[in-house]
Amino acid sequence: MEDERIFELSASKALWLLSPRLVALVTTMNKEGKVNAAPYSFIGPISIDPPLCYVSVGKSNKDTEAFARELKQFVINLVSETFAQKAINCEANLPRGKNELQEFGLHMRASKKVVVPSVKEAPATIECELTEVIEPKDSDHILLIGRVVAGTCKFMREQNKPDLDAMKLIMHVAGTHFRLVGKRIDLERRY
Ligand SMILES: Cc1cc2nc3c(=O)[nH]c(=O)nc-3n(C[C@H](O)[C@H](O)[C@H](O)COP(=O)(O)O)c2cc1C
Repeated sequence: MEDERIFELSASKALWLLSPRLVALVTTMNKEGKVNAAPYSFIGPISIDPPLCYVSVGKSNKDTEAFARELKQFVINLVSETFAQKAINCEANLPRGKNELQEFGLHMRASKKVVVPSVKEAPATIECELTEVIEPKDSDHILLIGRVVAGTCKFMREQNKPDLDAMKLIMHVAGTHFRLVGKRIDLERRY
């Protein structure tokens, strides 16, 4: 039998095996009404009841953290291939007063339950109220914990389920390397 080849990875390389991850444009707003949008991929669910999720934000004075702390709200806007490059452009740190969405040809629309606007082009949105900011020990990121209060989806299939094929969501691998959400497979489960 042929020997299986196994490559050993450094700890930091091993962390990046947790890829690809869904990309979202996270929108926030400050008390003066300035809207901020930036791409994030360290995002995930935490709890079903209540519905809680997190956005992991680098500790380097990001507007997303500052603005989320001000109004205690944020919106996770999933990104589809159709506006992927514009969404990634929103990573730019613009001079004060400039709005990333406007600057890169994207648009705002009113959210359902929070005052922070959503991204009009997003195929799906998750509206959150900030319940907690957690600083994991020794971490270079903080976790914005959001309670999901509303959501929207433009593409639904039978039984009220989101249509992932139609949404064409993008995922981040690393650097400039992205992927689309892949094909569906069904497996048996032993509950
Ligand atoms: C695809 C992609 C995913 C990213 N994911 C994260 C992330 O999960 N956490 C983070 O702190 N920064 C992430 N960034 C970097 C932020 O977008 C970048 O630091 C941005 O300038 C932050 O903007 P803000 O200061 O308006 O929050 C990501 C960038 C890209 C392009």
